[in-house]
Amino acid sequence: MAALIAPSILSADFANLETELGRIADADYAHVDVMDNHFVPNLTLGLPVFERLAKVSPVPLDAHLMIENPDRWAPAFAEAGAASVTFHAEAAQAPVRLARELRRLGARAGVALRPATPVEPFLDLLAEIDMILVMTVEPGFGGQSFIEGTLPKIRRAREAVSESGLDVWIQVDGGVSRDTIERAADAGANVFVAGSAVFGAQDVPGEIATLRDLAGRHTH
Ligand code: DX5
Ligand code: ZN
Repeated sequence: MAALIAPSILSADFANLETELGRIADADYAHVDVMDNHFVPNLTLGLPVFERLAKVSPVPLDAHLMIENPDRWAPAFAEAGAASVTFHAEAAQAPVRLARELRRLGARAGVALRPATPVEPFLDLLAEIDMILVMTVEPGFGGQSFIEGTLPKIRRAREAVSESGLDVWIQVDGGVSRDTIERAADAGANVFVAGSAVFGAQDVPGEIATLRDLAGRHTH
């Protein structure tokens, strides 16, 4: 399975987002962290900014909604042109209904799990979703260190996906770098979000290539 790299623009220069998206034109997705200051103690950007990013981005957008009431707000991100919309399991009232709605609108549907949220309740519902996002830090901020204790959950998710025969992607987000990406890939992740590791690098396209190569050696 190919390793997909999704740099998080949370670590980009927010005064120059169009230029910053151009720097990651070699990536598979641009990961956009939407935070509402309720679900997480941080506030980033909302729909009007996302709509403009979707218009100018050279790479498809991967929306990660760290917001309350995604049932109400997530479909608009699909309508705005997100290739993928991921909402948090802890915040959704009716995750299957919401995933179906996102797919109907033409987006991939993802379900995100905080580090302490179990994956088991979703393993019977794999046919309804396109991606599980296993958070490898507590959501809210870039630059935190990878929580090694999330690796068994990635492994369980990958085993269940393999048994199901479905093509559900497993994404990791938080603390992903040259030091951790191989372990995440080995556990079963195939989509890798990296914010500070990519935008903090001297050579941004080179860092994306390096991460893709390291992960690709370990994806199953
Ligand atoms: C954190 C966000 C991440 C963040 C990752 O809540 O969901 O996408 O940008 O940043 P790094 O890669 O620096 O840990
Ligand atoms: Zn994220």
